[in-house]
Amino acid sequence: MSENKSSINWFPGHMTKAKRKIAEQINMVDAVCEIVDARIPFSSRNPDIPELIGNKPHIVLLNKCDMADMKKTLEWISFYKKSSILAIAADAKSGKGVGEFKSAVMTVLGDKLKKYEEKGMVGKTLRVMVLGIPNVGKSSFINRLAGKSKAKVENRPGVTKGNQWFTVSDKLELLDTPGVLWPKFDSQTVGEHLAITGAVTDRILDTELLAMRLLEILKSDYMPLISARYGMDRLPEDSYDALCLVGKKRGMVIRGGEVDTLRAANMLLEEFRNCKIGRITLEGTDFYA
Ligand code: G4P
Repeated sequence: MSENKSSINWFPGHMTKAKRKIAEQINMVDAVCEIVDARIPFSSRNPDIPELIGNKPHIVLLNKCDMADMKKTLEWISFYKKSSILAIAADAKSGKGVGEFKSAVMTVLGDKLKKYEEKGMVGKTLRVMVLGIPNVGKSSFINRLAGKSKAKVENRPGVTKGNQWFTVSDKLELLDTPGVLWPKFDSQTVGEHLAITGAVTDRILDTELLAMRLLEILKSDYMPLISARYGMDRLPEDSYDALCLVGKKRGMVIRGGEVDTLRAANMLLEEFRNCKIGRITLEGTDFYA
């Protein structure tokens, strides 16, 4: 991204700790499943992940696809394919698409499985590390696949004792992200998108500003959804005026005829987060341009 390159880490100490833990345990797994929010595939991805996982076979799971724009999700899948990364769409809440994950593991580990077979190691348990920033749906995904069954860890050398291993079957185990992998703000836009989706608290940014940013995206890419929900054919050029108009349409007018823009902003963000406006993706693959 071209704007403000100064990177803001929320908790640099915590980030270092998480990275160290991931680096310590990466050799214990055969592959990595990186979970991102399909509505913000760029901003919900910790940019340090490629460096952390090195050459490990890699699956990107575009989760919350039930709330994202399917056309854009398919574009993201093609985008990853061009970089030889297998991406799949899933909805860990309902379980849709989660089943595809097992065959994705077999696909990315094809060569390794062949080598195991040649060595007579048929039926070896495959281990996958699940990585992702908070709120992308890691727990929901793991619960969908493994239920509450936690694997025993006592006989596994080098692994911190804890509850982070999960058994999917006798052939597949998942390791939850060791430590908390915080998002990294490489730009103001990344922070805004994380806050708009609710991945990080919106208290760190001005609520009205977030709603105005959301309206800018809606105006450019999802005007029919705006028309259907708020009953207007066009939005004013100025984002603040647009927010006022949405508030006015919803009767959020205070004394003197002024619009309660904070209330309007909260309503808009809440309706976006609950998918009431429709299925919306805030970021296209051109974010990587
Ligand atoms: P995390 O482990 O990565 O931190 O994420 P977690 O599974 O806790 O999920 C964060 C929130 O996102 C949860 O909502 C969860 O239900 C929701 N979620 C996860 N995956 C999906 C998905 O594919 N689609 C949709 N629509 N939502 C998803 P919550 O409001 O925090 O809790 P609750 O609604 O489950 O009570």
